[in-house]
Amino acid sequence: MTVREVLPDIYWIGAIDWNRRLFDSLIPLPDGTSYNAYLVKGSEKTALIDTVDPTKEFEYVCNLIKLGVEKVDYIIVNHAEQDHSGSLPMAAELFPGATVVTSEKCKDLVVKLLDIDPERCLVVKAHDTISLGNKTLEFIMAPWVHWPETMLTYVREDKVLFSCDLFGSHLATSDLFVKDMADVYHSAKRYYAEIMMPFRLQIREHLKKISALDIGIIAPSHGPLYHPPDPVLQVYAEWISDEVKNEVVIPYVSMHGSTDKMVMHLTGALIDRGIRVKPFDLVSTDLGELAASLVDAATIVIGTPTLLFGPHPLVANAAFITNLIRPKVKFATVIGSYGWGGNTVEALKGMLNHLSIEVIDPVYIKGAPDSACLRDLEALAERIADKHRKAGIMVH
Ligand code: FEO
Repeated sequence: MTVREVLPDIYWIGAIDWNRRLFDSLIPLPDGTSYNAYLVKGSEKTALIDTVDPTKEFEYVCNLIKLGVEKVDYIIVNHAEQDHSGSLPMAAELFPGATVVTSEKCKDLVVKLLDIDPERCLVVKAHDTISLGNKTLEFIMAPWVHWPETMLTYVREDKVLFSCDLFGSHLATSDLFVKDMADVYHSAKRYYAEIMMPFRLQIREHLKKISALDIGIIAPSHGPLYHPPDPVLQVYAEWISDEVKNEVVIPYVSMHGSTDKMVMHLTGALIDRGIRVKPFDLVSTDLGELAASLVDAATIVIGTPTLLFGPHPLVANAAFITNLIRPKVKFATVIGSYGWGGNTVEALKGMLNHLSIEVIDPVYIKGAPDSACLRDLEALAERIADKHRKAGIMVH
């Protein structure tokens, strides 16, 4: 447990979860995470900004004791997801005089999920403010980053934006602030891909809103803080743009080697044409890496054998997740082999129905790949290169 000063009278009082390896029973956390919570002490009143995951409640209380906090006037709940609100019932009990500050939708969720007394809640709207004396909290509504109730809190006098999950990274580190964007870039990109990418267009609007603020520090709810904020704002501007890169991502499974041979042949053919390729064998792939690779890619090629009548279940899972996280890929196709029939290609097309993609003719063959199949894969690589050229993604 530790308390760190962000600025005079603004403290980080969260918890670092060095050992957590899975989030939402789905998302791998190779580098752990942190649940950032803050205390803002004004000349007249004191506010807590979010709490921590209930598994870290003890550390959170120790941090409050360490700071000698005896009275809290407001508990600001930017987001009702339990990794930030799970210790709210305890904090509300510890400080019975504190008002719980939420958005309208968040109030409903903390009442239903955490049994918070609705009479204790103060609902705020966009740009409402709360004065702590010499510090003013302003609230910015940010629905769908990544729940519908989320808001951000800005301390006007100190130019600190408590951005909740936005700009977060699942990264356990003893650094309070990012020293070099390169240190956090990949974790931040994975986090964006897994959590924020489905809401790319909403995030674009929120970034416009916060560009009107004079921000000195971005203090997210996971991972280190940004001071100055420009490096993370720059990478987000790239990720949320409509621009894609000259990259092909190939999630695949092979049962007896045929699909693997096809994937490797296509991979080589794409490299020959100057395209960056990232094949992922789904038997051993960290799905967070697959998600991160989809942030920029122009094309996804799904490689699968037919298992009985449809795609291999690991491929179906990857396709389902890809459809959920909605990358901005422009082109998609399927390669692989079958033994006696099935509707694998059509099933996969149906599973990607949330993506705005042009489907390129697949190479889906009966049995093991022969020389005709390899020629078809060369032709497919050329079709993909041609699509990239015509879309202005490839310059040669
Ligand atoms: Fe980090 Fe959406 O909670």
